[in-house]
Amino acid sequence: MFKAVLFDLDGVITDTAEYHYRAWKKLGEELGISIDREFNERLKGVSREDSLRLILEHGRRGADFSAEEFAALAKKKNDNYVQMIEEVSPRDVYPGILELLKTLKAHEVKIALASASKNGPSLLDKMALTDYFDAIADPAKVAQGKPAPDIFELAAKEVGVAITESIGIEDAQAGIAAIKASGALPIGVGQAEDLGDDIALVTTTAALTYEYLLEKWQEKHEN
Ligand code: BG6
Ligand code: MG
Repeated sequence: MFKAVLFDLDGVITDTAEYHYRAWKKLGEELGISIDREFNERLKGVSREDSLRLILEHGRRGADFSAEEFAALAKKKNDNYVQMIEEVSPRDVYPGILELLKTLKAHEVKIALASASKNGPSLLDKMALTDYFDAIADPAKVAQGKPAPDIFELAAKEVGVAITESIGIEDAQAGIAAIKASGALPIGVGQAEDLGDDIALVTTTAALTYEYLLEKWQEKHEN
């Protein structure tokens, strides 16, 4: 039986993946780099700095900025993003998530956050979800961001559960790759064309019930 569920935040617990996209798109426009939703799939789950690197390369402006200018651009995006999430409240929690957290707690399954976002703790607070989490893995403490497995490994470690006894839930290509590399069981929120057809997928978080997780866990262990 699985003993921990490691949650991504943006795009899994709430709709902040959309705000990240809008904030990057705005910064891109200021730099003359256009970002569409298809390109954005490559940014999901990726750290702030790595995202900016990908965007600058995409616009062939990778060599145009000093380290200070690069840091200022990353800060500009984040300042704009932080403004966008100011009003986030418990009403913004995606369907089914609160019920899932409660059911996991009732079954004594550990709950951890494995988000790349430095805004994760403040978002959980705004949504009144902090108390459900046994651990919040700090992305500043891992050597490599997603698609490397580090943040999922750290999240499992912080709740004292083996990664192979954990389920990871993600909406991003980089995040699914990270879960696969970690050895946890991946469950994707999204479409097969973005996340692949080789993992369990739901198209809405409303389908993320405890029973669904159980079913996917048992399917994995029958094989
Ligand atoms: C991830 C998002 O959860 O966090 C990415 O999917 C984002 O889009 C990353 O770049 C880092 O977030 P932040 O809030 O620290 O800039
Ligand atoms: Mg995400």
